Amino acid sequence: MSFMDLAKNRYSCRAFSGKNVEPEKLQQVLEAGRLSPTAVNAQPVFVKVIKSAENLEKIRSITRMAYNAPVVLMVCYDESRCYTAEKYNDNFQSGIMDSSIITTSMMMQATDLGLATLWARGFNASEIEKAFKFPSNEKLACLLDIGYADPENGGPSPRHPVRKSMEEFASEV
Ligand SMILES: Cc1cc2nc3c(=O)[nH]c(=O)nc-3n(C[C@H](O)[C@H](O)[C@H](O)COP(=O)(O)O)c2cc1C
Repeated sequence: MSFMDLAKNRYSCRAFSGKNVEPEKLQQVLEAGRLSPTAVNAQPVFVKVIKSAENLEKIRSITRMAYNAPVVLMVCYDESRCYTAEKYNDNFQSGIMDSSIITTSMMMQATDLGLATLWARGFNASEIEKAFKFPSNEKLACLLDIGYADPENGGPSPRHPVRKSMEEFASEV
């Protein structure tokens, strides 16, 4: 599939079928994340994989944003390893941006493999960090739910096709 077709096919899935994610496919998704760029190649991002019944139950008890996905990736970064732009007298810290590109790569790789995904950040991250015993330097950026779409209920939401016009989105300055 071309990248443009992938971009057109991807949508947020909020209902997954009972089918598990094959281990080889999960490895490919993680590899796409591992190969993604980070600021000054500091690589502060890492992924904690949730797929055991016990951990799925734990995450679902904290947030409904894990839905019924058989795999939930916690995309995390080590705050102490992020690039900062201090020498430019700027408060920038790369953790969320680094995590975002890694999540994007994994999301698109999953889509290419026929998997469905949901990028989620609608929760209190510190509750999840506490439940999964994160050390204080480790932060949760977002969740990436992965599985196969439930053919009956797992289609795109009405919000999916709503996008700004190209004129609103990009303009020459
Ligand atoms: C940073 C970010 C956070 C998001 N958080 C949530 C969330 O917590 N729950 C949810 O159901 N969808 C979440 N989404 C998915 C968006 O709602 C979705 O991408 C948007 O409505 C467009 O729909 P589409 O992905 O189907 O094109 C999030 C997406 C992004 C990029």
